[in-house]
Amino acid sequence: MSNNANDNIIIKKSETSKIDSVDFENLSFGNVFTDHMLICDYKQGIWEKPVIQPYEPFLIDPSAKVFHYGQAIFEGMKAYKDGNDDVWLFRPDQNYERFNKSAKRLAMPEVPEAVFMEGMKKLIELDKQWVKNEVGSSLYIRPFMIATGPGVVAAPAQFYRFMIILSPAKAYYSGEVKVIVAEHYSRAANGGIGAAKAAGNYSAQFYPTKLANEMGYQQIIWTDDATHTRLEEAGTMNVFFRINDTLYTAPTSERILDGVTRKSLIAIAERENIKVDVRPILVEELIAAAENGTLQEIFGSGTAAVVNPIVGFSYKEKYYELPKQENSLALQLKAMLNNIQYKLAEDTFGWTVKI
Ligand code: COI
Repeated sequence: MSNNANDNIIIKKSETSKIDSVDFENLSFGNVFTDHMLICDYKQGIWEKPVIQPYEPFLIDPSAKVFHYGQAIFEGMKAYKDGNDDVWLFRPDQNYERFNKSAKRLAMPEVPEAVFMEGMKKLIELDKQWVKNEVGSSLYIRPFMIATGPGVVAAPAQFYRFMIILSPAKAYYSGEVKVIVAEHYSRAANGGIGAAKAAGNYSAQFYPTKLANEMGYQQIIWTDDATHTRLEEAGTMNVFFRINDTLYTAPTSERILDGVTRKSLIAIAERENIKVDVRPILVEELIAAAENGTLQEIFGSGTAAVVNPIVGFSYKEKYYELPKQENSLALQLKAMLNNIQYKLAEDTFGWTVKI
């Protein structure tokens, strides 16, 4: 391991790389990690100097609050390589802002911008060869923070660890995605943590999603917890519906994650003069549109999933198949988004940031 310190970040470079053992053609999402990771510890009010070091397991006290009370948050971001071998981030300011909003909601300390942004850029620079120049390939970036402070008293910890790990990625879903509309379980409630990227929001979905998987559905479209009449989001994705020529998506709220891909797609659609209506969408409207033939498309959006067409949905044990689309709006919007991300089209929005 070679050590190298600059003013702000300590870099301990790995002497070997795993990259030659990775089958980049057959990556399954989130299972392979690059050679390095970033660690920055917070001890009683002070952030220490971040360290970039070889990717490896670390020791943690069994009483750390992350294990007992789930005090943990994360972000999902991606880096893309263009034809000149330059690497780009997509709207990292949005993820940074949301990360600190999540931190506040979980009573965790805010991470300084220099640690998050400079740390991420230095880490990616070091593992740059893991980003492939090919549309559909990217480097998934997972910043996260856990409560490392010991003690099983149910109160916020005094010690935290912020980390960034990187994973070369292709598609999140392989194969067709069918969804089931939630009638009983809920993802989030008013006043809860639904708008935060809190680890518990995801683990709370595992059981109902497992039941959905057993019935042949990959995801659940969550409905509002109080009445189960409004369509909200799909857990790993925000969700869009095209009825006739209008694109509908629910407004973000205390229950719905403010997805970066979601808001980017809305901006792109509006630029293309596609009608977008951001308003609560009733389950009964969806059923009526499916029955009268005006429902054209449903798709999910998210950093990991990008834009994922949904082929059909189930509600009250009835399955509704969506019409097959030759040139779906989902795939058109996905191409426009990817063109910006991979620098194949002019970034008129100023969203891309070079590393
Ligand atoms: C993302 O899209 O980045 C997410 O955080 C969703 C996660 C379940 C992979």
